[in-house]
Amino acid sequence: MILRYLSFATLCILFALIFIGGYVSAAGLGLSCPEWPLCPTGVVPQQDFVIEYTHRGVAMTTAMLVLATMAFTLKSRVAPRGMKIASVIAAGSAIGQVTLGAIVIVERLHAVLVTAHLGLGLILFSMMIMTVMYAFRLPKTNREQVAGSKATVS
Ligand code: HEM
Repeated sequence: MILRYLSFATLCILFALIFIGGYVSAAGLGLSCPEWPLCPTGVVPQQDFVIEYTHRGVAMTTAMLVLATMAFTLKSRVAPRGMKIASVIAAGSAIGQVTLGAIVIVERLHAVLVTAHLGLGLILFSMMIMTVMYAFRLPKTNREQVAGSKATVS
């Protein structure tokens, strides 16, 4: 059950992150915070850097959630092999995205790197969709089955 909630919540936050990333790029804010990992004002976000800081902050949260999803999937005794592989690829892509995001800034938005950042984001998104689809097809635990049958009787 936790895998369904966790993977779905992760997918939703990842979707929001891709929106924020698109906005950063389209609004030309990619270098609004020209340093890595913090902006020139340190940990305190200033108005000038708020969108870029939001992208970084949501990215870190998303990466943690993707890693947690992988950990629960690998620990699960009922998760099929395909789900485990998808969650491992998703976790690798999330770590790659955070690293690539930093390189994109250090290399001053090199076109190839920005394109690779978009491409890896799409791989991450598709692997998370696969993980969620597998999660919703997992067999119910004994406790869920008992709760379900009680609800039918009453
Ligand atoms: C899971 C992590 C991340 C995902 C899924 C993600 C996704 C995206 C997406 C979809 C875009 C829009 C790309 C485009 O329209 O071409 C973008 C832009 C950008 N991302 Fe990320 N991102 C992540 C992490 C990071 C991190 C950690 C940084 C580090 C600072 C970063 C820096 C940037 C920058 C600077 C842009 C704008 C590039 C430009 O101006 O064209 N990203 N991101």
